[in-house]
Amino acid sequence: MNIAFVGGGNMATALIGGLVAKGADPRDFRVVEPLPAQQDRLTGRFPGIGIFGEPTEGAVAGADLVVMAVKPQQMRAAAMALAPGVADVPVVLSIAAGTRIADLARWLGGYTRIVRAMPNTPALIGAGISGVYATADVTDGSRRLATRVLEAAGAVLWVEREDLLDVVTGVSGSGPAYVFYFLEGLEEAAQAMGFAHADARLLAYATFAGAVKLAQASDLAPHVLRAQVTSKGGTTERALAVLEAGAVKAKFVAAVQAAAERAREMGDEFGREP
Ligand SMILES: NC(=O)c1ccc[n+]([C@@H]2O[C@H](COP(=O)([O-])OP(=O)(O)OC[C@H]3O[C@@H](n4cnc5c(N)ncnc54)[C@H](OP(=O)(O)O)[C@@H]3O)[C@@H](O)[C@H]2O)c1
Repeated sequence: MNIAFVGGGNMATALIGGLVAKGADPRDFRVVEPLPAQQDRLTGRFPGIGIFGEPTEGAVAGADLVVMAVKPQQMRAAAMALAPGVADVPVVLSIAAGTRIADLARWLGGYTRIVRAMPNTPALIGAGISGVYATADVTDGSRRLATRVLEAAGAVLWVEREDLLDVVTGVSGSGPAYVFYFLEGLEEAAQAMGFAHADARLLAYATFAGAVKLAQASDLAPHVLRAQVTSKGGTTERALAVLEAGAVKAKFVAAVQAAAERAREMGDEFGREP
């Protein structure tokens, strides 16, 4: 495995850290990173890793895969700087939110063997999920390698159309924020009814984590699991009646659709030439 990263920030560090933890050798990685402080952090954490200040030819020559791990706003400049040296690279994997393949291909000088992934923030601790799409020019071997790299950040879900990545952005990309919002609500309720902050938080986090584990361990759909804990005339029924009266689920669906729509708009914005 011989992998070059363009951008040595949080995501690149998380992916390299995950791969090294699974047994990869830091010498298998090269990183193009202009910021000296980031360079020092990478060499400190991964002794033997290759560091380049700019995407000179040696930075990506001979790599099996190049990961573009810069912010979407930096992608155009980073890709254009990389373009002269990328022709022989078998595959380029972009993890930038919102940057479309057609735009990246243009900035890379017409390069088309591109995999585009949309990870989420739990990727930073290996607990993310990435939606992934590849162009028809990407070989099965390159797809497998991209999967292996992304699995260092968590689960991987391949999609058949690039526009589904906007949906992935709305569901799992923004998803952690919905979960935090729900946790805020549970915590607030526990505090309002007498619990100290730390205990309220413990109740909220443990409830959420336990319910997810139970759902994952079960073959039953969430609505069946919900029915099982909702006895006639009981406490859960009373709570769910309040949620239904407020059309909370319908609002939630609308919220996720709004996020996906915003992802589509941002794709247009990021791809626009200055
Ligand atoms: N963090 C997440 O949880 C997460 C989740 C989903 C998707 N993503 C996506 O992953 C990508 C990377 O995110 P991140 O959080 O790792 O960002 P980050 O920490 O800001 O890392 C980007 C790094 O790339 C460097 N850089 C900027 N321009 C460059 C260039 N032309 N050539 C080489 N390196 C360059 C930056 O240096 P400077 O600091 O000098 O600018 C920075 O160190 C983003 O596109 C983001 O949308 C991240």
